[in-house]
Amino acid sequence: MKNLGILLSGRGSNFEAIAKNVAAGKIPEARIAVVISNEPDAGGMAIAQRMGLEALLIPSKGKQRQEHDGEVVAALHQRNVDLVCLAGYMRLLSPWFVQQFPRRILNIHPSLLPAFPGLEAQEQAFAYGVKIAGCTVHFVDEELDHGPIVVQKAVPVLETDTEGSLAARILEQEHIAYAEAINLVLTESFDIAGRRLVRR
Ligand code: GRF
Repeated sequence: MKNLGILLSGRGSNFEAIAKNVAAGKIPEARIAVVISNEPDAGGMAIAQRMGLEALLIPSKGKQRQEHDGEVVAALHQRNVDLVCLAGYMRLLSPWFVQQFPRRILNIHPSLLPAFPGLEAQEQAFAYGVKIAGCTVHFVDEELDHGPIVVQKAVPVLETDTEGSLAARILEQEHIAYAEAINLVLTESFDIAGRRLVRR
């Protein structure tokens, strides 16, 4: 059994989808060891409490990145976390943090990377006029929205879409993609060739 550590800052729908998949036995190799938020009002914390999971607030406000990252990493290590899942965690991890969990940190981003990294990716894609949008689960490296890709899901952009309806269609796929990516990563039966994840 592997321990997942979830980091979030907000709504928590990706975390909730992971937790429901775990509870339903659809991520059979994993349990959620801890849910950590840097934001006191994150909706994801209430969801974690409701689900009977440990919800740990480690505020980032007023702290240097080094200090905050140190606290988060210590909490993850204390709980023997094997795989860190960023789920709407609105903080850039320091290189030191990334090095503590080599190839063991995943992030989800609401675009088909390398298109539209950074904030408000769905809005960026909509405004750009792409006809295909989507989401990406990737390993975290020291650059923003950048590490090797684990799973991508595409969705069409419809003539009738608004930014909101497109974001909602992408989010549905995010919830599917994250469970798939965790299952794949936990098998450990893949290699990374350059940037390419290749199944063995
Ligand atoms: C998602 O769109 C995710 O791709 C991005 O932040 C958002 C988090 O949403 N990284 P939620 O908190 O999981 O509902």
